[in-house]
Amino acid sequence: MRELIIHGGRPLRGELAVEGAKNAALPLFCATLLTDEPVVLENVPELRDVQTIIAMLELLGKRVERLGPGCYRVSASSVSSASPASGFEVPYELVRQMRASFLVLGPLLVRGGRTRARTRARVKVRVPLPGGCVLGARPVDLHLKGLEALGAELELSRGCVEGRAASLHGGEVHLDYPSVGATEQVLLAAALIPERTRIHNPAREPEVEDLAHLLGKMGARVRFGEVIEIEGARRLGGARHRIIPDRINAGTYLIAGAVTGGKVRVFCRPEHLRALIEVLRESGMELEEDKESVTVTSMGRPSPLEVETRPYPGFPTDLQPQLTALLTLARGESLIRETVFPSRFSHVPELLRLGARIDLADSSAIIKGVEQLEGATVQVPDIRAGAALVLAGLAARGTTVVQDEGHLARGYSDIVGDLRELGARIEEREYEHG
Ligand code: UD1
Repeated sequence: MRELIIHGGRPLRGELAVEGAKNAALPLFCATLLTDEPVVLENVPELRDVQTIIAMLELLGKRVERLGPGCYRVSASSVSSASPASGFEVPYELVRQMRASFLVLGPLLVRGGRTRARTRARVKVRVPLPGGCVLGARPVDLHLKGLEALGAELELSRGCVEGRAASLHGGEVHLDYPSVGATEQVLLAAALIPERTRIHNPAREPEVEDLAHLLGKMGARVRFGEVIEIEGARRLGGARHRIIPDRINAGTYLIAGAVTGGKVRVFCRPEHLRALIEVLRESGMELEEDKESVTVTSMGRPSPLEVETRPYPGFPTDLQPQLTALLTLARGESLIRETVFPSRFSHVPELLRLGARIDLADSSAIIKGVEQLEGATVQVPDIRAGAALVLAGLAARGTTVVQDEGHLARGYSDIVGDLRELGARIEEREYEHG
């Protein structure tokens, strides 16, 4: 266990480049299951979640080499990954740690189906239902419905999804909700089906688009838009791909600049941060941007806001806890409505320890701004809630101790180093749990 000791009350100043996007990296690694040829991924964030997905690929017969910082080559190992006689069984331990590992289901179904077609043997695929962050109920019904629309026959049995690898077909997939994971799941399977698939009401997050780009380089034809159209290929080839910068980490550091009354420039893709830029402007901060960076300058305490989280291009749920931290210091009462994960408020009880005034009602937080937060000891409940607590600690008077069982490392490879670069006074030390 690690704890961060934050000496708050110092405005952050400086500039920073963010690492590659975790939520893009995970599906991109899953895409390597669709080919035996080498796929090289650059700008990979060095995170615990990335190590988890790499361990999963290795278990499924891939060879993963680290060519340098943030650069990985995934290729077929000498033991063929394509068609083990016994089928594919993914261990619960790995899927439990990280929901995104469930994305191997589509590739395994479609890949197994292709390689065994000649012998008519149908490889069995078994993937446990996922865990991941504690963000309320996170079902996978849309993933399953999507794959079924492409001809997959799936069953739920003893906590796992079971299917027989089969030659799937193209089709029309209608998602009831623009789920990021379900859209990626369908895209991954459809890429290896030499027919046309259309995804209606898809998620259009930049991370989904990044996956579409890689699949395009591997040989699928993808049209990304309000409806995603994908014409898969019988065989996909290798590719080299540079992962987009992490917009959520960029947003976290911009809010860090705002909440501490400082000035921070973050190198990222400004077009991926439109909703945040607008919200910060509305709160009275000064925002400047060029092609490769966004700069926030605090103009004092923020104005109160009403914000609703939404699928992209709406305000991202993954920045909601950090925005809540900012609004604890607003000059009045703010309202945040969480529509993506309605119970995502685990940061709230911890923010209260720092002196914030927040009431929860249904899926909303009513935040009554206070003039000053006070340092205290808090626990990190999940990745982004942890980021929110770090930001609140940076703004608080006195010392805040943020205790973390490892959540922050799932999303930020070096949050302490990054914030120190901006002038934060933070120490890190190990602590005994319990
Ligand atoms: C991804 C991100 C996560 C982000 C979220 C929303 C990754 C690894 N994680 O998660 O950081 O917070 O998008 O931007 O990319 N739902 C269903 N049935 C399904 C699938 C989802 O009801 O089959 C619901 C979920 O419970 C949730 C909503 O849809 O309420 C959004 O989930 P989804 O977009 O799928 O998020 P994830 O892909 O899990």
